[in-house]
Amino acid sequence: MIEAQGLTKVFKDKKRGIVVAAQDLNFSCKPGQIFGLLGSNGAGKTTTLRMLAIILKPTKGIAIINGFDVVKHPETVRQQIGFLSCDTGLYPRLTAREMIRYFGRLYGMDEILIDQRITEISRMFNMVEFLDTQNDKLSTGMKQKVSIARAIIHNPPVMIFDEPAAGLDIISARIVYDFVTTCRRQGKTIIFSSHLLSEAEKLFDIIAVIHKGVILSIGTLDELKSQTSKDNLEDIFVKLVQEKDETEKY
Ligand SMILES: Nc1ncnc2c1ncn2[C@@H]1O[C@H](COP(=O)(O)OP(=O)(O)OP(=O)(O)O)[C@@H](O)[C@H]1O
Ligand SMILES: [Mg+2]
Repeated sequence: MIEAQGLTKVFKDKKRGIVVAAQDLNFSCKPGQIFGLLGSNGAGKTTTLRMLAIILKPTKGIAIINGFDVVKHPETVRQQIGFLSCDTGLYPRLTAREMIRYFGRLYGMDEILIDQRITEISRMFNMVEFLDTQNDKLSTGMKQKVSIARAIIHNPPVMIFDEPAAGLDIISARIVYDFVTTCRRQGKTIIFSSHLLSEAEKLFDIIAVIHKGVILSIGTLDELKSQTSKDNLEDIFVKLVQEKDETEKY
């Protein structure tokens, strides 16, 4: 379970001045559902997910993950979450196995458990043949599998996905989507950001439309349809965003 109340992040940028990247966000994500943040470039998706993933400290408001406050109990929260983005950031000189093991140790796992999990995960994702290959010799899809393995070595109940398939080809993206839906089937709590209507339509159980740091609406596709009197997600998105931009003019 993820709960955000009044979650806010303000950046002080030298050139732009004060940037409110996330403003008073209120939402909750339940186990077994994919909660999606749908928004354009700069909407505040990454900032929001980084606060949940204890990479950024909120300026105001609170985020609770499985009962633990991200600011007060960061170490406990770290054990609860797996974070995956498209920016894999694998150490080039390490092999896939070394990379995954390194992260297992960071989570404080013992070596036997790490080995068990590596065996389990590498079978699940067909990684056995390249487990001992250096990361810089892997294809993009293989690298993404290593990133997934790294993110779930400690079997976290909460998964945070920041545009995890951006820039991937069809097959590699499919690996990611299959993984996300497996997480849902396993009853994990999932938050997933995207700027793509196709991903939102395919994956999201609950859609939160985010624009300029503000959540404009939250609901199932059917709920958003009846709320906006539109019959498809593109029209819903455009209507919500235009209404927001209109109100800002005055
Ligand atoms: N470290 C930072 N310092 C200053 N401003 C920042 C910083 N990080 C993000 N921002 C600003 O906050 C706003 C939200 O950015 P964010 O990266 O969260 O958006 P996003 O929805 O993830 O966009 P994208 O789809 O491009 O990934 C943007 O205006 C961005 O320029
Ligand atoms: Mg982003």
